[in-house]
Amino acid sequence: MLDLVTAPIVALLSDRLGLPAADLNRLLAPPKAGSADLALGCFQPAKAKGVAPPALAAELAAAVNASGLAEAIAAGPFLNLTFTPAGVAKALLPALAADPSVALRSQAGAGRTACIDFSSPNIAKHLAFHHIRSTMIGNSLARLYGAAGWKVVRINFIGDWGTAFGRLISGWKREGLTLAQLEGAADRVTFLNELYVRSSQAAKGDAALEEDARRWSKALEDGDAEARKLWQIFKDASLAEFKRVYALLGVDFDSWKGEAHYEDKMGPVLAELEGKGLTSIDEGATVVDLKAHGLKQFKKPMLLKRADGGTLYATRDLAAADDRFREFAFDRALYVVDLGQSLHFNEWFAAAKLLQRPYADRLRHIGFGVLLVWNDEPAEGLQPGWAKGRTRAGKVMLLREVLEEGIDRARAIVAEKNPEIIGEEREAIARAVGVGAVVFNDLKNARTNDVKFKFEEALRFDGETGPYIQFSHARLCSIERRFTGGQGDPALLTRDDEKAVLLAIARLQGQLERAVETDEPSVLAQALLGLAAAVSTWLTAGNRDPSAKVLCDDPALSAARLLLVRAARGAIGEGLRLLGLIAPERM
Ligand code: ARG
Repeated sequence: MLDLVTAPIVALLSDRLGLPAADLNRLLAPPKAGSADLALGCFQPAKAKGVAPPALAAELAAAVNASGLAEAIAAGPFLNLTFTPAGVAKALLPALAADPSVALRSQAGAGRTACIDFSSPNIAKHLAFHHIRSTMIGNSLARLYGAAGWKVVRINFIGDWGTAFGRLISGWKREGLTLAQLEGAADRVTFLNELYVRSSQAAKGDAALEEDARRWSKALEDGDAEARKLWQIFKDASLAEFKRVYALLGVDFDSWKGEAHYEDKMGPVLAELEGKGLTSIDEGATVVDLKAHGLKQFKKPMLLKRADGGTLYATRDLAAADDRFREFAFDRALYVVDLGQSLHFNEWFAAAKLLQRPYADRLRHIGFGVLLVWNDEPAEGLQPGWAKGRTRAGKVMLLREVLEEGIDRARAIVAEKNPEIIGEEREAIARAVGVGAVVFNDLKNARTNDVKFKFEEALRFDGETGPYIQFSHARLCSIERRFTGGQGDPALLTRDDEKAVLLAIARLQGQLERAVETDEPSVLAQALLGLAAAVSTWLTAGNRDPSAKVLCDDPALSAARLLLVRAARGAIGEGLRLLGLIAPERM
């Protein structure tokens, strides 16, 4: 638990004992009983030095007390440490004064590269509400890894291949549609969806149209120029719609290489699997019988190529991983995809091992649970309850529509709470709060849990919500705006509620590292809720006791407290950014 407050104490002790900091970190832990923040059992280091443990504990206690970093007491062979508000403030605040975002920085991943495959929707289909999960868990992991020192490659593995395109092209030609018509549509993906439906309906019972769609599908596979051109048009139109939603969410990507890119790169992978004797034929399909190769946990063989020759998902993922490893030499590759696809990832990760890929142990499936929306007007015969997101008409809820509704609702709340905020600023706040509410709701609990979504809950300013943390940030900003004094002295901070805020900030670094190690944005989300709660307790104390106010009668004390206000505001702002939220200065 190396963090910004323990680090100076660890440095002092490691210096006195001649032990590496990492060893000391392992020896330091919160005591099993008593009120100290940390305890060090002196047995091992005393043995190494050839002195009695209680004598060493006493010597170290004197050194720590002299430093003012914490209060130290020797309890027999144990060194008990209690942080003091001033000690924590002195360790923490000068480091954060220039740039409070360093509270959420670490070098744990320095020199390492992570490829993060996330969002990865299928084109000519809408981004549905549930796509927020992969998109925002992946976006947050990319930012968290970056903050922890990793080099990050953000990959959108677009699903841009499949037989649907034959049907789309066939319909497009039959109706004589034009690019201008597609580009003029209010929503280009809806335009393509409707074309697909008309084309499928027309082909029902019409063998010639069926054949036409099949021919176009084949033409596309064979690289026919006209088929390719139309495919590109459909792809561009879909990407343009996706990018509107990504812009609302503040998400971007380094690579958009999709499934089509690997279409001609799967042959060599298949040939290699065959050459190594790993494949077999099962009812006409080419498979890898993982069980037969000693992997007993796989009941069924892994499908590589269907009987009709269609190549499948697993082969494509293997080809893409080879490509990514060649280009980025990743130390870790994350696949942020729902838990429903666990078998797929387990299978091809196992195949990568059988192929002795050097990266086989670096692959991680970052699974997550489903998104459930409260439905109070369910279809006939059903009770109101949590269900996968559908509109009243039974259609899937679109991500863009949910975000826009969030923004509308947030605009109304902000207009009511703070009518003097108007115009562009109100609009920007409505966006930050409306979108942030939806995003935070998705990230606040362990990702493998199912998520329950209800606008009324997600938008509350006083619950475990994004707006609650954003409000805490805005409250701190408003105090900063009102402060007119000079430079503060951290040693003047002596209150326990101030110490609680300081420790919550100091622990963020360790929590960032844990979030990265467990691929869990919720670790940071929960930490920020805790920090916001500590801030609220501190600031509310001033309501009862004027001397506890940040801007109190004593200018020196106000200036010292303002250091903490700035550090907390900066840490919360950066924490929200790492989760993919924007932190407005007023709301
Ligand atoms: N396009 C896929 C889907 O919508 C998700 C792709 C996930 N990424 C991957 N490398 N398999 O189900």
